[in-house]
Amino acid sequence: MLQRSIFLPVSWSGLPLRVQCRLMKNIVILISGRGSNMEAVIHAARKEQWPARIAAVISNKADAGGLEFASKLGIATVVVPSKAYASRAEFDAALQQEIDRFAPDLVVLAGFMRILTPGFVAHYEGRMLNIHPSLLPLFPGLHTHRQALAAGERQHGATVHFVTAQLDHGPVVAQAAVDVLPDDTEDTLAARVLVQEHQLYPRAIRLFIEDRLSIDHGDVRIAAPTRH
Ligand code: GRF
Repeated sequence: MLQRSIFLPVSWSGLPLRVQCRLMKNIVILISGRGSNMEAVIHAARKEQWPARIAAVISNKADAGGLEFASKLGIATVVVPSKAYASRAEFDAALQQEIDRFAPDLVVLAGFMRILTPGFVAHYEGRMLNIHPSLLPLFPGLHTHRQALAAGERQHGATVHFVTAQLDHGPVVAQAAVDVLPDDTEDTLAARVLVQEHQLYPRAIRLFIEDRLSIDHGDVRIAAPTRH
């Protein structure tokens, strides 16, 4: 984490004071729908007092449920309607412009249902995370719970990864698994995975905020916490 030491020459007691002043990181969250992962991240950031602020929540859909939750908490919300743009590249350019107004240190994809152009992904290289509801590299793409059941998997789960140009690939930060039960349906399995997602995503984001993540030849390394 960026830290700045400010030396105040003399305090009221006549002793020099050393004040550690942490710079807050800006997080921009992108959603397309209900935003339950976004909620989990916002709650964790507040409860655990992360040195970070949720600078904005941006959606490509005006009716995304999560927008209301964020705006009630006083978080800036923006809609960049994907349907209003003729091409993927034009939409991504408009989206990038909106995101960058908030000077993000980290962009968090939380159920953001868009395929992103390589230029957009490159712009946020190493500072954009996604959560995907499967144990990647298994089942990239849509209908992951259905795919896991059809494949007869005994375990299923969720993955947080850095975003790269290839959909649902990219260096893995963290995974959480659940057992697949004999009578599971797509819905029951999805619900159990979602409970895990809500714990996993805040944990992974916190590691980023604490500057503990690095990428080494495509693998994520997690540094031990620093003591203050
Ligand atoms: C989650 O399952 C997430 O893993 C996937 O899309 C879903 C979004 O749910 N990328 P929510 O909008 O966070 O509730």
